[in-house]
Amino acid sequence: MDRSMPNENANNINPFDKAASVPVDYTGSQAVYSTWAAKYEEDMADMGYHGPRQIVALMHQVLGGVNPSSVRVLDVPAGTGMVGSELQKLGYTNADGLDANPDMLKVAENKHVYQRLIEAKLGTGQLPVAPDTYDAVLLVGAFTQNGTHLPCECLDDLVQITKPDGHIIVGTGSETLQSDVGAALVAKLQDLQERALLSIVDRTTRPGYFRDWEGTFFVCRVTS
Ligand SMILES: C[S@@+](CC[C@H](N)C(=O)[O-])C[C@H]1O[C@@H](n2cnc3c(N)ncnc32)[C@H](O)[C@@H]1O
Repeated sequence: MDRSMPNENANNINPFDKAASVPVDYTGSQAVYSTWAAKYEEDMADMGYHGPRQIVALMHQVLGGVNPSSVRVLDVPAGTGMVGSELQKLGYTNADGLDANPDMLKVAENKHVYQRLIEAKLGTGQLPVAPDTYDAVLLVGAFTQNGTHLPCECLDDLVQITKPDGHIIVGTGSETLQSDVGAALVAKLQDLQERALLSIVDRTTRPGYFRDWEGTFFVCRVTS
């Protein structure tokens, strides 16, 4: 399995690895996203990132025949809106996006694929969203091995803003599950299940999530 980019070496690390793999802190990774925002989607497409399309296709399958425009979706972290574009293609026009980075959100705003964009940092225990708002909350590109992205505790807050019987779907690289971040993610989902706040109704994999790496998706239903 090729884990490197062409021409990649210690002094010439691609932006993804800077943001997701190199051990920078949260502030450092936010600075990378701010300077990368305009070129993020082009670079991610070149690197073979298919997580956004895969998570939206999975949600579409899980929801069955529900009218897409009636489904209130939250994409978190929305970044530049890659998930929003995929949602719009399938008719999910009632979607909001939440992210901490204003430069990434500016790119998302220009795509006109979200009803509302929310600039907020997850993991602080405070979300500017009313309880029981969303039918589906989608997280992809959210949990990375160096832990500079979303803290798993943010799932406590996301459960609160998901409607009873609504879904939370989390996608991550299968390899990430072998890391401390992956272990913490699985432990947090199990903790929420043991506290009867949600049920993990499916755990499924997809090839080609990112580069030639497989992705794992957890489909959870919030308790009614
Ligand atoms: C790899 S991008 C993923 C964006 C999008 N989900 C995608 O798949 O293209 C990670 C995003 O997480 C955001 N982020 C990192 N930590 C965050 C936090 N604590 N709260 C909200 N957003 C955060 C960053 O600003 C960045 O836009």
